[in-house]
Amino acid sequence: MNRNNLSVYIYELAWVLPSIAIPVGMLVAIAVSAFAMGIHLPGPEGRLDPAKLDATPPFDRPGVRRVGPGRYEAVVIGQIWRFIPNEIRVPAGSEVTFIATSRDVVHNLKIQDTPINIMLIPGQVSKLTARFDRPGEYLLICNEYCGTGHHVMFGKVVVEPAGQGGSR
Ligand code: CUA
Repeated sequence: MNRNNLSVYIYELAWVLPSIAIPVGMLVAIAVSAFAMGIHLPGPEGRLDPAKLDATPPFDRPGVRRVGPGRYEAVVIGQIWRFIPNEIRVPAGSEVTFIATSRDVVHNLKIQDTPINIMLIPGQVSKLTARFDRPGEYLLICNEYCGTGHHVMFGKVVVEPAGQGGSR
């Protein structure tokens, strides 16, 4: 192999190797997220009829419920252009599982200073859990443009100092 051929060979290899390595890396990433981290696409078990929300548990009773020591469940409906309920109260140190959906168009539920940022899709139930350790008020907003009233669609999560007895 002369010098010229060698540089062509290396150049070719520099393109061929990544074209194998990149798809293999992607497959590994998919396998890890699906099997090791348990990340899945929303399943059909989380489906409902958005027109019958008021008769579909748990959305027939939106609100915050204590489900165990330090554990709460917040059932939230997003609709044009508000959240039901638009205020969620929990004591500091609580773990809150948000179970949410939309009554009409695609909305979003984002809570300031937390990892909560869920799409609310009509017909689909979204579920996510977060811990609230620091007392204070956390703005809860719709983070998905949903029409002319999008900017007034907000509420709050009030985290009360622990031991205040303010939980319901
Ligand atoms: Cu609801 Cu933007």
